Amino acid sequence: MAIRRGHFKTRLGFILAAAGSAVGLGNVWKFPWLAGENGGAAFLVIYLVIAFTIGVSVMLAEFLIGRAAERNPVGAFVRLKGGAWPIIGYMGVAAAFIILSFYSVVGGWTIAYAVKTATGLLETPETSALGGLFAAFTADAVEPLVYHAVFMALTVGVVSRGVGAGIERACKVLMPVFFVLLVVLCIRSVTLPGAAAGLKFFLAPDFSKVTPGMVGAALGQVFFSLSLGMGAMITYGSYVSHKANLPGAALWVTSLDSVIAVLAGVLVLPAVFAFGLDPQAGPGLTFITLPAVFSRMPLGGLFGTLFFLLLFIAALTSAVSLLEVAVAYFVDEKGVGRIKATLTVGAVIYLLGIPSSLSLGVWRDVTVAGKGIFDLMDYVASNLLLPLGGIFIALFAGWVVYPRVIDEATGGGARPFRWAPLWKVMCRFVAPAAVAWILIAGL
Ligand code: TRP
Repeated sequence: MAIRRGHFKTRLGFILAAAGSAVGLGNVWKFPWLAGENGGAAFLVIYLVIAFTIGVSVMLAEFLIGRAAERNPVGAFVRLKGGAWPIIGYMGVAAAFIILSFYSVVGGWTIAYAVKTATGLLETPETSALGGLFAAFTADAVEPLVYHAVFMALTVGVVSRGVGAGIERACKVLMPVFFVLLVVLCIRSVTLPGAAAGLKFFLAPDFSKVTPGMVGAALGQVFFSLSLGMGAMITYGSYVSHKANLPGAALWVTSLDSVIAVLAGVLVLPAVFAFGLDPQAGPGLTFITLPAVFSRMPLGGLFGTLFFLLLFIAALTSAVSLLEVAVAYFVDEKGVGRIKATLTVGAVIYLLGIPSSLSLGVWRDVTVAGKGIFDLMDYVASNLLLPLGGIFIALFAGWVVYPRVIDEATGGGARPFRWAPLWKVMCRFVAPAAVAWILIAGL
């Protein structure tokens, strides 16, 4: 019996679901912290250039490969070509395990912070105390693991029901609400006394500070934030109708994701400067800074709770896309039932996340190549596996199955695809060469 695949009902639903995958902790948690650490505006500019050249091209390649094959990332390469190509798919499944393991830990933080904000635990005029609160919370051996479990359980709950109705409906309603709330909070942040220095830091680039490490960080962040390089967008592409215009969708998703990242930067960095915090504070930056912003606005407790709840939803829709890659593989290729696959993979990923969480506390001293476990997971996945996957996805679309994917992009010639020549050059030469160069320079 042929297995009927779930389908997105509308093109808008598909774009919002793909944007739901892209927009998440990467934008609000990771982007401001990386920008803070890497010189602010120069990082932003490099990020945007990479996103709208390499990023959008790889995203389109993934959508088209997914729709042409109607398979999970491993099955897609098997079906379209075979040979050694499915290795990219296996790498993607491995990356899904690694990324979701620490992603779920941070997802748990968002729930914890929603609860702590709602109950007034973070309401303090002493901004310096917030860093201590964050460090104490993440270093605890029990509390973050409980929230990590809650986050993972909810992700499993959504994925076990299958994509389509649930994800599509949730994204349609909540993404616009999240967007409006971000804008409101940005206004509060930039009007804080002393915020101007932060705005300048984030928006006035100083290119003399550019280093190879910074370009590498921006590249990794583009792949992470746009959910590229491991087949998440192949999986989503496989669920979309053949009528949808995918080049347009790729541009939309890249634009939406970038706008949210910029807004998150405008929200966090001016506040960092206004409160005299350190922009180099690292992974805690967003969680330390925002409670201070909420403490300084009317109804701050309410706004803060709402913000962390919506951030949690944004993280959940991203986590769902990560889990879906692994689950779709076991369901399509191994014939495992969806519920069983989801529960098993979810449990393994939960366990895998525990060392990451503990590495911020009791396992602080365990390091590999100078990095703690949490940082190591993030680095290996975002800065190595994803860009490496991106190189081969671009090459595959540009050289191996080009006529086939162009057919998908134009609906068999029925629709125009004006930037096809540009996209071809990007996939064949520019994206693989640039990513390889940045990867090598980064090592
Ligand atoms: N893009 C998401 C974020 O910014 C995270 C994410 C979801 C992801 N799916 C992915 C990252 C696939 C890499 C690959 O929060």
